Amino acid sequence: MPKKCLFFGRNLTGIVVNKNVSRGPGLGTKKGRNARMTTAEISTLPKGLLAPLMQSDVPIVVADASKDDMPLALCNRAFCDMSGYDQDEMIGANCRFMQPSSGIGPVKERMRAFLDDDTETQAEFVLPNERKDGSRFLNLLHLTKMTHPDRPPLMMGSQFDITTQDADALRKYKTAFLRDMQLIQKAVSKDGWAMDTPNESIAESLERISQSELSDP
Ligand SMILES: Cc1cc2nc3c(=O)[nH]c(=O)nc-3n(C[C@H](O)[C@H](O)[C@H](O)COP(=O)(O)O)c2cc1C
Repeated sequence: MPKKCLFFGRNLTGIVVNKNVSRGPGLGTKKGRNARMTTAEISTLPKGLLAPLMQSDVPIVVADASKDDMPLALCNRAFCDMSGYDQDEMIGANCRFMQPSSGIGPVKERMRAFLDDDTETQAEFVLPNERKDGSRFLNLLHLTKMTHPDRPPLMMGSQFDITTQDADALRKYKTAFLRDMQLIQKAVSKDGWAMDTPNESIAESLERISQSELSDP
């Protein structure tokens, strides 16, 4: 049963907004920050981003890199379906809420290094995560940075559940991932945003990583 996701009504107006930036009821973060976006902040997001992101069957999230602890600003239905959380539980939280309490090992340091490095624009990681119901999966995470000359930077993440998917799902994911990232890149570039799109070789490396995980459970 697909999870409820407020974005996917008849239009794209279901953004969780709180004009006074109060604490939301969603997931806490280790640093305790869980602020919703204000109307003004939402207007700083790339206008063209919403439609292709929300229509994608590939899980995608967008985090506000200018804010303390990089809270999620947007997530799509595919991500809600994958994680088991509703959108209104996740907006304002850092995406580490899916990490098991036992930790995720050295990949954490690699993610931190990538996020701190202005010269790297995209990277892939494989890490253990947990859904809302506590079930574990291996997450193939692709991160991309989005920049604008006059706006705070954003980070986009796309997830693929390696554990419960098979090789056919992986091929479909690769095609949809490449297509949808290009659609998003085209749409946001009209608003002056720059983002690198994953090319065929990145998609192939994602496929290789997943295949080796699929054949070596
Ligand atoms: C856009 C974006 C999406 C992310 N998606 C995930 C995810 O799906 N699962 C996860 O465990 N971490 C994800 N992360 C990484 C964590 O949010 C966090 O950056 C990482 O754990 C390193 O920071 P920390 O050491 O403060 O936890 C994502 C980060 C960003 C910026």
